[in-house]
Amino acid sequence: MKEKLDAMLVAANEAMAAAVDEAALQDIRVSYLGKKGQLTSIMKGMGGLSAEERPIVGAVANRVKDQVFETFEARLKKLKAELMTSRLEHEKIDVTLPGRRNDSGTKHPVTLVTEELIDIFSALGFCVAEGPEVEQDFYNFEALNIPKDHPARDMQDTFYINDEVVLRTHTSPVQIRSMLKQPPPLRIIAPGTVYRRDSDITHSPMFHQIEGFMVDENITFGDLKGVLTTFIHECFGKKVGVRFRPSFFPFTEPSAEVDIQCVICGGKGCRVCGNSGWLEILGSGMIDPEVFKSVEYDSDCYSGFAFGMGLERIAMLKYGVNDLRLFFENDVRFLRQF
Ligand code: DAH
Repeated sequence: MKEKLDAMLVAANEAMAAAVDEAALQDIRVSYLGKKGQLTSIMKGMGGLSAEERPIVGAVANRVKDQVFETFEARLKKLKAELMTSRLEHEKIDVTLPGRRNDSGTKHPVTLVTEELIDIFSALGFCVAEGPEVEQDFYNFEALNIPKDHPARDMQDTFYINDEVVLRTHTSPVQIRSMLKQPPPLRIIAPGTVYRRDSDITHSPMFHQIEGFMVDENITFGDLKGVLTTFIHECFGKKVGVRFRPSFFPFTEPSAEVDIQCVICGGKGCRVCGNSGWLEILGSGMIDPEVFKSVEYDSDCYSGFAFGMGLERIAMLKYGVNDLRLFFENDVRFLRQF
């Protein structure tokens, strides 16, 4: 019996040493130590032994059992270690490979134009101011000499929140807010979002403007022309022709619209400029004394000019974009081009 047990231990050790993976090793363990295993059945058969033999064989059987189990555990540990080593070798990652790139966005063309205009006017001594997009009737209209019955206030143009509150239809109310906050001299530009009830190929209910104005003693129409001509030459190039055309705005007197030579045809006449050779880019004028009255500036001492323009329009002309809607679709294939 003892020899049989020792032979079994040798056989078990050899079998386990030869096991190539954990599954094979577990099978071997079960075939010796499992309920129907070889060692188990020997131990079950110990009942037939004499009283003297039983404890001796029992001790041997227990030792063999412990040793088989020890061998099993040692082999299992080794197999696991081998598996890990081979995985580490085969699943190596090359840390020198380039990483996955993050797609970075680009600035929106309206943002680019806004920043460029801020740069140009900063160099001329202008500071940036901002105002609310939900605006009181007083700032958006009343103080800008646009009385209650003025056609510009038509329900068709203005988004009314209630009788006294609107979505600002232009950036001009920042003039009023700025002048109420501080005395002259002032040189301010105010870029921002504006809203109108208007939507077709050339109009969007939300768009962007930049307002500018300058107030001091002895400001003349010559200053207006000088500042705006300088701006246009910086923005569109020194060679572009500029023309001032008489116009009307409730908040300026006299008023002028400013045209530049068509950037598409160079002034010869084309579809974009309606064959005139000129493109209107902004409204301007000398600030009306009525406006000064509403901010309690003395128009006998001070004068000033103001101007306002649409930023999408400037971006369209600068970048040769022919459809306003492209600015609001935010298709990255379009936006990446700037
Ligand atoms: N607020 C005008 C508009 O939205 C633009 C404008 C014209 C602003 C003349 C001015 C100005 O400051 O003097 O159409």
